[in-house]
Amino acid sequence: MQIEVIVNLKKIKMEVDANEFLADTLRKYGILSVRKGCDTTCCGLCTVWIDDKPTLSCTTLSFRANGRKITTIEGVHKEADEFAQILVAEGAEQCGFCSPGFIMTVLAMKNELTNPTEETIVHYLTGNLCRCTGYMGQLRAIKTYLGVQ
Ligand code: FES
Ligand code: FES
Repeated sequence: MQIEVIVNLKKIKMEVDANEFLADTLRKYGILSVRKGCDTTCCGLCTVWIDDKPTLSCTTLSFRANGRKITTIEGVHKEADEFAQILVAEGAEQCGFCSPGFIMTVLAMKNELTNPTEETIVHYLTGNLCRCTGYMGQLRAIKTYLGVQ
């Protein structure tokens, strides 16, 4: 079947199977920042935005994205670079495997939350796993990025 989506502000027609998931479709169409870690909604690595809301693309059927706006890290690279520099400064960037999904979640948090507490930030990040950093550097970086104590 064919769907039409707006990916990073560009309208694209995509051929998809009925049982195909969005992470696979996006990669098939060259959006290679989208990766899968667990494939079972546990790690957050595959996070993209659908209509500006963080969504796990590994378990979202592609046809459900028909007519909707999809944003990946390629579409927000200026904001992603800004946050990545803070991450590096805090020593919170190690292998980087988790970064695409993690950064999409943090940028969504910035859009959605005003003056979040540490508890709110941690809760928002519940679905994003990182096997390297221990999270404390990431938490410092997020607080700096959001301008909260
Ligand atoms: S690959 Fe989608 S949550 Fe892990
Ligand atoms: S930096 Fe390695 S998994 Fe997060």
